[in-house]
Amino acid sequence: MAHLILLESSPVMLAPWHSLSAHVLGNGNSPFEVANGKDVWSYAELNPGHSKLINDAMACDARVAVSAIIEGCSEVFDGLKSLVDVGGGNGTSLGMLVKAFPWIHGVNFDLPHVIATAPKVDGIEHIGGNMFECVPKADAAFLMKLLHDWDDEECIKILKKCREAIPRDRGKIIIVRSVIEEDKDDKLEFVRLMLDMVMMAHTSKGRERTLKQWEYLLGEAGFTRFNVKRIRAVQSVIEAYV
Ligand SMILES: C[S@@+](CC[C@H](N)C(=O)[O-])C[C@H]1O[C@@H](n2cnc3c(N)ncnc32)[C@H](O)[C@@H]1O
Repeated sequence: MAHLILLESSPVMLAPWHSLSAHVLGNGNSPFEVANGKDVWSYAELNPGHSKLINDAMACDARVAVSAIIEGCSEVFDGLKSLVDVGGGNGTSLGMLVKAFPWIHGVNFDLPHVIATAPKVDGIEHIGGNMFECVPKADAAFLMKLLHDWDDEECIKILKKCREAIPRDRGKIIIVRSVIEEDKDDKLEFVRLMLDMVMMAHTSKGRERTLKQWEYLLGEAGFTRFNVKRIRAVQSVIEAYV
């Protein structure tokens, strides 16, 4: 929790909120870029201190979600020999997964400047690169808290690169992210909508998505079927097949 507070209370992350109203009223500029002059990932690349704040905060949040996944839907990992965590940060999530499912070889994939400072984690290999260009091959691709940073067009590009990375016959992707329920009076729904606002402030075009919006993205990227599993967390697990 401390790492999340340190990130969210940093001047870099607080400044964009002052431009959120103008953004919502339609001036089109990303609040993060107005405040900091660059998108969040380019800013992190040039500012190692801020990059560390992001990676530590993501790892802290990831521990909660990954524990809920291991407890609530471990069957998702049955039969997998390898798993690539796309935008996996410093490897915390994948490290927990390969510890729980030790038959899996883990590949943690993120931008080169993130991989350069990632600690060694037993059972996983770190690979640096750009997911818009190529994703390392594995039986399945794991995308946690990733697609909410991007607009539909960018998500479809990332999903297509993941589709190319998995086997055509039995490959799947595992997405861990909020699914906004349009009609439900669920306590966590407010948290999901609040996260949508955070995405507006902190990314260029990111957003949380409803089930219909997830269905659209997956269909456009060439995935023919998917299912959604609820876990004891704000996020759900979406398994999608080619
Ligand atoms: C919101 S963080 C999520 C980290 C991790 N998946 C988690 O759940 O804690 C998004 C990650 O995507 C990575 N990322 C952003 N652009 C990328 C790109 N073009 N290629 C690969 N990774 C990228 C960032 O460096 C960051 O680690």
